Amino acid sequence: MMLKPLTTPRLKSMTDPSNDPIQQAALLLRKSQLITCFSGAGLSAPSGVGTFRDPGDGWWSRYDPMRLASPEGFKEDPELVMKWYAARRSQMAQASPNAAHHALATRKDLIQVTQNTDNLLDRAGCQDIIRLHGDITSDRCHAGCGYVEPVNMDQPPQHRSCPACGQAGLRPTVTWFGEALPADAWARAESAAANCDAFIVVGTSAVVYPAAGLIGLAAQAGATVIVVNREASDASHMADLELLGSADEILPAILGPA
Ligand code: APR
Repeated sequence: MMLKPLTTPRLKSMTDPSNDPIQQAALLLRKSQLITCFSGAGLSAPSGVGTFRDPGDGWWSRYDPMRLASPEGFKEDPELVMKWYAARRSQMAQASPNAAHHALATRKDLIQVTQNTDNLLDRAGCQDIIRLHGDITSDRCHAGCGYVEPVNMDQPPQHRSCPACGQAGLRPTVTWFGEALPADAWARAESAAANCDAFIVVGTSAVVYPAAGLIGLAAQAGATVIVVNREASDASHMADLELLGSADEILPAILGPA
């Protein structure tokens, strides 16, 4: 995955300001046959899981992503990388699904395409989950020998060598900067974006590619794009409806019963 150069976010103006966008979105989703939700760290933020780019408390506003989430960083200082993952895993072990995860789970036909590596969508009961950036709840051999082991999120491990081949350290089964996304997940995500009626974008800054490219793909394929975020983002200019507020308040309002 890679970063797109920063662009100036633009707010899409509503065609009819007298209509309540929450009601518009709710109605549209009730009528939609195929819905895909593309999520980022802001979905889990109300559960207490840290985001990456929020000013002040986002991980990347405090630390260098290349030191903590890249093959080069792991080669340079694997102890530091695994220490940071242990901190994130401990934070996630304390977290529970919030009202946004539960709202997404109420539509059993909804396809989840997520950049999040936590397991909060699963724990809320969502069934069809496509993980673009992997799963933080297991470690694998960095040399690629095929060894994978689940981790105890309450007592996360520190740096250790692969017990199967001994050729490299174990690292989280996530996608780092400079690494390719899992091919099967990407193919399924492209199909879910290209074939839906409504594409909900929730809690992502939409600056990390190729994942963020799914928004344009969905829009070009004719889906109505609904963006839910606390503030304007790089997804704003692609939104047919932009709902600004916290995901745990807005998703229950647009996915809940009429
Ligand atoms: N409700 C809705 N949106 C929120 C909330 C909330 N409660 N809290 C924060 N947000 C929004 C922020 O305004 C921001 O636009 O969520 C977005 C989070 O953006 P990032 O921190 O950049 O997270 P994300 O888009 O998931 O990052 C993409 O970057 O480092 C990589 O692999 C990592 O998957 C991650 C990728």
